[in-house]
Amino acid sequence: MQFTYYGQAGFQVVIAGKKILFDPFITENPLAKDIDVKEILPDFIFLSHGHGDHIADVANIAQQSGALVVCNPEVHAYLEKQGVTNVHEVNHGAPVDFGFGKVRAVNAIHSSGLPDGSYGGNPMGFVVTSDEKNFYFAGDTALTLDMQLVPLFGKMDFAVFPIGGNYTMDYNDAVIAADFSKVDKVVGVHYNTFPYITIDTVKAAEAFQNKGKELLLPAVGETIEL
Ligand code: NI
Ligand code: MN
Repeated sequence: MQFTYYGQAGFQVVIAGKKILFDPFITENPLAKDIDVKEILPDFIFLSHGHGDHIADVANIAQQSGALVVCNPEVHAYLEKQGVTNVHEVNHGAPVDFGFGKVRAVNAIHSSGLPDGSYGGNPMGFVVTSDEKNFYFAGDTALTLDMQLVPLFGKMDFAVFPIGGNYTMDYNDAVIAADFSKVDKVVGVHYNTFPYITIDTVKAAEAFQNKGKELLLPAVGETIEL
């Protein structure tokens, strides 16, 4: 499965020929200055919550691609005001079949106010199961026992975890999250974008190695095979 990192918590995977983008924060992110947003043409855009560093580029990418945006009802209401009309609302609960695979919105311990101050509903992570690969994107979250439910939903091939701390798990908690969700391969995101979440990436990789796990840190704009 192709995985492209777009900075902060933003990434795109390709499953069954469909491009699936998560949490795009590109034009306002100096670390992503070399990414040309106009070239991002997903079929789906999934949003974990309404914070600006997860939805800043949704309206323009949705507009240019016609992608189906999947988010909670409160983020939907906000996006509607920005002219985004092709939206599928979900909330925490059962898996939903999107054709390329099934996606279940799961708990995330965080907040979700929208950039205009309106209520953003509850933040979420996503468990994606498909004929190709299964993975768990935790969104912005603290370590939580809910992660122990993830293996009940399928054997995950990898997880995408925030590792920057301060607003979310740090890399040490992410190692425990990998244990809880029974994954050995983790893509680290949500680090180094802001001073509060600047980390030592060598120490982060060591924390995973010490537990027999692998931490992948693709560069912004890099595509890796997972
Ligand atoms: Ni957030
Ligand atoms: Mn965030």
